[in-house]
Amino acid sequence: MPQTVQGVVALAKSEPVQLVDIVIPDPGPGEAVVQVQACGVCHTDLHYREGGINDEFPFLLGHEAAGIVEAVGEGVTEVAPGDFVVLNWRAVCGECRACDRGELQYCFNTHNATQKMTLTDGTELSPALGIGAFAEKTLVAAGQCTKVDPEARAAAVGLLGCGVMAGIGAAINTGAVTRGKSVAVIGCGGVGAASIVGSALAGASPIIAVDIDERKLAKARELGATHVVNSSEVDPVEAIREIVGGNGAEGADVVIEAVGRPETWKQAFYARDLAGVLVLVGVPTPDMTLPDIPLIDVFGRGGALKSSWYGDCLPKRDFPMLVDLYQQGRLDLDAFVTEEIGIDDIEAAFEKMHHGDVLRSVVVL
Ligand SMILES: NC(=O)c1ccc[n+]([C@@H]2O[C@H](COP(=O)([O-])OP(=O)(O)OC[C@H]3O[C@@H](n4cnc5c(N)ncnc54)[C@H](O)[C@@H]3O)[C@@H](O)[C@H]2O)c1
Ligand SMILES: [Zn+2]
Ligand SMILES: [Zn+2]
Repeated sequence: MPQTVQGVVALAKSEPVQLVDIVIPDPGPGEAVVQVQACGVCHTDLHYREGGINDEFPFLLGHEAAGIVEAVGEGVTEVAPGDFVVLNWRAVCGECRACDRGELQYCFNTHNATQKMTLTDGTELSPALGIGAFAEKTLVAAGQCTKVDPEARAAAVGLLGCGVMAGIGAAINTGAVTRGKSVAVIGCGGVGAASIVGSALAGASPIIAVDIDERKLAKARELGATHVVNSSEVDPVEAIREIVGGNGAEGADVVIEAVGRPETWKQAFYARDLAGVLVLVGVPTPDMTLPDIPLIDVFGRGGALKSSWYGDCLPKRDFPMLVDLYQQGRLDLDAFVTEEIGIDDIEAAFEKMHHGDVLRSVVVL
C-alpha cells in the first residue's frame, strides 16, 4: 500500500518551501523505502529552490541523509529491512563504459528509483539528487543505500551522503593527498572544511585554509589547518607561497578549490607548486567561464587540473570506512553538525547558511 507522509517541497521557483503530504509508493524491483532519521541542509537544496539546477518543480528537497531501510522491492539483495544506511546520489550501474573499465567513480549512468513519489493530487515530485530526504520516508534505488555501523549517530554520518564526502574525497581520492604533502584549501564551508579534515587524516603538512570569513578560518584551525589565510586581507597566492616556500616550492602540492568561482580557481591555479594538482570541487554556475590565463602557464607549470564529482567516492568502499573512523574517534563528523533542527525549520536554515553562520544544520526526524 502506498503511504502518505510529510515532506518538504519546493513548489515553485524562489517560493518558500512547504511541509506537505507526499505519497510514497511501495518499493518496486531494485528499489527501497527508507525511514529517514536525519538529513543535512546543503547549498544544493537552496539551488534547487532557486531553479538553479533545473525547472522540474515541484522538488522534494534533502539529500544528505541516514535512516533505516523499511522495505525493499523484488530482487534487492544488498540491503534488507532494518539496515541502518547512509543514502548516496551516485549508485553505480556496473555496465557503462566507465564501469566497464573499472572506474566506477565516474559511472555515467547512476541509478535512482524508477517509480515516482507524488503529491496527494498525483503530481510527480522531483527528488533532489534522486533522494528527497526532508521527509519521514523516501523511495530510492537500493544501490543508493549504503550499510554502515548502526551504532553511529545519524545526524553526523548522514553528512557523508554529500558535502562531507565530497570534501574528504576531493583531498584523498581526487587530489591523492598523502603523508607530508602540502595542501591549500580555498573556501572553508562544509565542503572545504571536510577537505581539511581529509588532508589531516592523510597526514598532509602544512594544511593551509583560505577563506574571507574569520569564523570559517577559526573552525578550519580546530579541524586541522596548520595555517589560515584571510584572502579578503592578503593575496592568498603570495601567502601560500610564503608558507610552503622554505625549500624553494612555488606553491602547495595540492590546492583544493571549494568555492566554485573563476577568481578562486585562478588563485588555486597559481598557488600550486610546479607539477602540482588543482582540484575543483566547488560547483560553478553555467554563466561562468575559465579565467584569462596564458596557455604557456598551463604548460609551464605542469601538473594536473582536475574536477571532483562527489569526491570521486565509491559509497560502498568509503562510507563504512569513514563511519568506522568516526566511531573510533579519529574523524570528527560531529564538528560539522552546527545544529539539529526540525523538519519545519528548513527556511530558517537556508537563511543561516546564506549568512555563513553554520557548517551544517541537520534535520532530525
Ligand atoms: N563536487 C561535488 O560533488 C560537490 C558536492 C557538494 C557541494 N559542492 C559544492 O561545493 C561548494 C562549497 O559548498 P559548501 O557547502 O561548503 O558551501 P558554503 O557556502 O558552506 O561554503 C563556501 C565557503 O566559501 C567561502 N568563500 C566565498 N567566497 C570566497 C572567496 N572569494 N575566497 C575564499 N573563500 C570564499 C565562504 O566564506 C564559505 O566559507 C559549492 O559550490 C557546492 O555546490 C560540490
Ligand atoms: Zn556505470
Ligand atoms: Zn549536497
